[in-house]
Amino acid sequence: MRIFVTGATGFIGSAIVPELINAGHQVLGLTRSEAGAKSLMAAGAQVHRGDLNDLESLGKGAAMSDAVIHTAFIHDFSKFQEVSEVDRRVIEALGAALIGSDRPLLVTSGTGLVNNASGRPATEQDAPESSHALPRVSEQAAAAVAEKGVRVGVMRLPQVHNTVKQGLVTYAIELARQKGVSAYVDDGRNRWPAVHVLDAARLYKLALEKLETGARYHAVAEEGVPMRDIAEVIGRGLRVPVISVSSEEAPAHFGWLAAFAGRDLPASGAQTQKRLAWRPTGPGLIADLEQMRYHETEADVVSAAPARAAR
Ligand SMILES: NC(=O)c1ccc[n+]([C@@H]2O[C@H](COP(=O)([O-])OP(=O)(O)OC[C@H]3O[C@@H](n4cnc5c(N)ncnc54)[C@H](OP(=O)(O)O)[C@@H]3O)[C@@H](O)[C@H]2O)c1
Repeated sequence: MRIFVTGATGFIGSAIVPELINAGHQVLGLTRSEAGAKSLMAAGAQVHRGDLNDLESLGKGAAMSDAVIHTAFIHDFSKFQEVSEVDRRVIEALGAALIGSDRPLLVTSGTGLVNNASGRPATEQDAPESSHALPRVSEQAAAAVAEKGVRVGVMRLPQVHNTVKQGLVTYAIELARQKGVSAYVDDGRNRWPAVHVLDAARLYKLALEKLETGARYHAVAEEGVPMRDIAEVIGRGLRVPVISVSSEEAPAHFGWLAAFAGRDLPASGAQTQKRLAWRPTGPGLIADLEQMRYHETEADVVSAAPARAAR
């Protein structure tokens, strides 16, 4: 298939692209920049220059392709509502280009955007939920597109990691660096699920190839890593004290990250593993955080990233 990939230059997209190409697919990768275009060409992909705000161009990319994977997102959490609206319009535009065909569209969401107040791991059956604090509506947009007859499914991601980046944990590390303490909320027993980036990339390929309308996939290898364990490994890595902050103090300490920091977000990938015969092979989140080089400069990390991501 010729697959249009938005976010093809991102942390996860740049792992998905070689996975697809190695399986014999062609990739048309979206990017805004010259550097992104060069990295896509080096990976053996074709380039579609465009921006998430240019819906016409996105529609053309989808119309030229046999399938679409949407991973791009504007990660400006200070404008979460606004960027979530952009995401909704993008999914609608990609879907509109596929109406009347059997060409699949796989969109990205998060396991943390699921209605699961019970403390049990969220499953693929649990409905999505958005709120003022978490206004992302990728799944709701995908459902609207499905109603128009498009073969669309959702990939829900937990914290996706390697030894360089770890989803929201990367922001927690930066905060600990700035504040000189690595914090968890209350007793720190709340959990975040996780998956290694190469396992997630393999799952995108499997899911796209077998996509069923309305399917929800959970790219979960570890159901829940306690936040206290995460804070402790960060504290050791940065050589800063590890502290507890109360839930009342959390907004002042964590800023926008407080919407996630104290939440217990366990999620299961069991149904997805069975359905797609997907076997994540790790390493785990704590193992990657132990291997991370906390005191390298950003330039060192970027230049070492491709080699280390491949491990
Ligand atoms: N990383 C995680 O642990 C995690 C967890 C849960 C959910 N997710 C979701 O998974 C997806 C991929 O995440 P990621 O960590 O790989 O993201 P990332 O590394 O931040 O990459 C973002 C991608 O989006 C593209 N992008 C950003 N703004 C754009 C714009 N205005 N127009 C066009 N493209 C734009 C970038 O492309 P260019 O800069 O080349 O244009 C880049 O390829 C996102 O939807 C994210 O929210 C990630």
